[in-house]
Amino acid sequence: MKAIVLKELGGAFVLDDIAKPEPGEGEVLIRIAAAALNHRDLWIKQGKYFLKEYPCVLGSDGAGIVESVGAGVSEELTGNKVVINPALHWGPRRHGHGKDFQILGMPTQGTFAEYICVPAENVYPIPIGLSFEKAATLPLAGLTAYRAMFYRGGLKRGEKILITGIGGGVASFLLSFGVKTGALTYVSSSSQEKIQQAVSLGAMNGVLYTAENWTDLLLEMEPEGFDLVIDSAGGPEFLQLLKLLRTGGKIVNFGGTAGKIPEMVPAQLFWKQASILGTTMGSPIDFEQMLSFVTEYIVTPIVDRVFPMEEVQAAFDHMQNQSQFGKIVLRIADI
Ligand SMILES: NC(=O)c1ccc[n+]([C@@H]2O[C@H](COP(=O)([O-])OP(=O)(O)OC[C@H]3O[C@@H](n4cnc5c(N)ncnc54)[C@H](OP(=O)(O)O)[C@@H]3O)[C@@H](O)[C@H]2O)c1
Repeated sequence: MKAIVLKELGGAFVLDDIAKPEPGEGEVLIRIAAAALNHRDLWIKQGKYFLKEYPCVLGSDGAGIVESVGAGVSEELTGNKVVINPALHWGPRRHGHGKDFQILGMPTQGTFAEYICVPAENVYPIPIGLSFEKAATLPLAGLTAYRAMFYRGGLKRGEKILITGIGGGVASFLLSFGVKTGALTYVSSSSQEKIQQAVSLGAMNGVLYTAENWTDLLLEMEPEGFDLVIDSAGGPEFLQLLKLLRTGGKIVNFGGTAGKIPEMVPAQLFWKQASILGTTMGSPIDFEQMLSFVTEYIVTPIVDRVFPMEEVQAAFDHMQNQSQFGKIVLRIADI
């Protein structure tokens, strides 16, 4: 089968022929129609991820058709159009994953290939009305956004929320989910155009995080501050987010795109009655609830661009240049 292989750290993606996998006990074999990129794939390519196993086939997001099933799996799944939950072996506790937890696409083969085998319990019907390309954007980013916003962040209608770096894939789901929930949703970005795009999709307003006084600008817009900030950047500006909270507010962080967080004065935390919460992907319940939310609220994933499989390098350049607004998709097969 055709697969996009990353042969070595920092190397190029190569379209190669590799062995088609066979479904083992409890697994299904899926013919992939579309896959989507996540920043995680870029971190792995750059050697900035904690796992470094090359050569590898990356990709955590995929949608396609079940072609066959392994022992112990109902034949009725064959022919179903599915999305894959990339949070493998989460474990029994919703509050946190267990020690066997893995993310699809390192160390196991990912979705940037014509076929993949995954546990049957990780496949779900595609929400009604979504194409393979739109469905392929849901798994990692939708799951992370859903858990960050609702399970960890506890967002409620009418609350004020800030989403940092709105051009990002996860951020695009946070925007859709926040607006659909009836939250007053603000954004930050490096691009005025992306802020305008977010406003056209229902955001209240936004600021450039590259401006020196960006937190002051946000407090001019919302003088009482925010109930919830969801952040993927971390970095030297992270503690500025505490300034933006109303008392009792929460920051949920799921990423470190901007690097290390500096030292904090404890009063910044306790005087604000603040909570700083970390989150990573989500449990099977989070995934199911995310799909139900997408169906009930008719969420249309924001697809920035679709690249053919052969143009994978251009797709990654697009992500590395921060040119995207939403998710970047690879078309694997026309099925
Ligand atoms: N823990 C988890 O489960 C989990 C899950 C998914 C992602 N992540 C992490 O979350 C981050 C985003 O992932 P993604 O796949 O959504 O990435 P992505 O689609 O590549 O988006 C990256 C976005 O980050 C924003 N950004 C860059 N520097 C920033 C800064 N200094 N302050 C605020 N925003 C900044 C940019 O927004 P603008 O274009 O608007 O400037 C950029 O578009 C990555 O670090 C990723 O590893 C973690």
